[in-house]
Amino acid sequence: MADGTAAFPGFKRDTLDDEIVHPDLYASWDIHEVYTKLRRDDPVHWTQPDGFRPFWSITKHADILEVEKNNKIFINHDRTYLSPKAGEEWIKATTGDTHLFRTLVDLDDPVHMKLRALTQSWFMPPNLRKLETRIAALAKEHVDHMASLGGECDFVKEVALWYPLRVIMEILGVPRSDEKFMLKMTQEIFGPGDPDVAGESDNKSEDGQTMTSDQGVDLLKTAQELFQYFGAITEDRRANPRDDVSTVIANGQIDGQPIGEREAMSYYIIVATAGHDTTSSTVSGGMLELIRRPDQLAKLKNDLSLLPNAIEEMIRWTTPVKHFMRTATEDYTLRDKTIKKGDGLALFYWSGNRDEEVFDDPFEFRVDRDVKKQVAFGYGVHVCLGMHLARMEIKALLNELLPRLESIELAGEPQSTRANFVSGLKSLPVKYKLS
Ligand code: HEM
Repeated sequence: MADGTAAFPGFKRDTLDDEIVHPDLYASWDIHEVYTKLRRDDPVHWTQPDGFRPFWSITKHADILEVEKNNKIFINHDRTYLSPKAGEEWIKATTGDTHLFRTLVDLDDPVHMKLRALTQSWFMPPNLRKLETRIAALAKEHVDHMASLGGECDFVKEVALWYPLRVIMEILGVPRSDEKFMLKMTQEIFGPGDPDVAGESDNKSEDGQTMTSDQGVDLLKTAQELFQYFGAITEDRRANPRDDVSTVIANGQIDGQPIGEREAMSYYIIVATAGHDTTSSTVSGGMLELIRRPDQLAKLKNDLSLLPNAIEEMIRWTTPVKHFMRTATEDYTLRDKTIKKGDGLALFYWSGNRDEEVFDDPFEFRVDRDVKKQVAFGYGVHVCLGMHLARMEIKALLNELLPRLESIELAGEPQSTRANFVSGLKSLPVKYKLS
């Protein structure tokens, strides 16, 4: 299937609203034309794509923050991310709930707050500092591997995909031998629409609508495998506690009671899945931009104190999580629009990160720009739990890589995953000189 639309027969592309959810526009970055138009003409846009429940597209930085701050009015329950109607109906019919899992991003306070509190301090800088040496060693191992490949490789497949996965697996305390399994599971959960990472069933049908039901079968299978896998980990960590996140989850209590099995499983799953595809996309997307902008690469190599800022710019640039959703619990006026109780809202972080009112020349990649307001980690009570870890591991990798990198250029066409939820590069062929 050469053409992307053919690969997604279930997604129409007749209207602007269809384009807002179309995976191909995320792969090609053409979605920015749509976002720019929306920010200018209709920043709070009632969106009715074919095959989806309608929702409000929130595209301005200020509005994303306003919705996230008002977490009593705009809750996470019901719709976490954009999913075709058929897929939503399938999950409801199969599980009796609107969610397959009950992860932190599916829950609201007070339960959300209590569950989050279990691991919060684990992910804060004082605790993460204990991991610095180990993460630096993993970074070196991956750069050494790249150096051993003779000056040419696919940077995603050799480095960017594995390094963050290995960090997360260490944090969870699971052995390296299970990493291929974990990678497959994550990709099936996050990128099920992409033909290269779809599950075992052949998600292609004449009408396209069966994509969602086949995808559902894949998802359920994936979920079952993950439940089984982490069930064994829970048993082990209850019997043999260690200094890892799995031990905290397995022995977690709320109000003196052990957390439920589904909550525990979902907790492992969000840590395992949220923690590596996102970081991987930032590393590879950031590297691509440094290749395209030799002046920025030179600036960074000459002054590595710019690294923390450059990493924040890479995160703004790639914004690996394209949106999360909220549902209104009461009527609310945003700009000139009345959001009705029960309406869904998609917070388009990538659009917020290109908002001309917040960032000068937002489509310019600059390692030294003022990027403090970037919103790729979300905001408020659900703000990314792993953001300090993500920054720390990207810094460790680039700290190792950049001083050793004598030259780097593209050796082929980069390719992105096709997904409107979490997306980034799946291939980045490069030629380089690395000491
Ligand atoms: C939540 C982005 C890395 C774990 C989130 C949210 C975003 C996000 C947008 C939702 C925030 C909101 O609703 O306001 C990213 C990006 C990453 C990254 C761009 C990398 C560059 C990580 C890592 C972990 C992680 C390394 C490791 C554990 C989580 C968890 C949540 C979350 C557990 C749910 C928090 C909650 O609902 O309370 N992330 N993330 N993320 N992230 Fe990350």
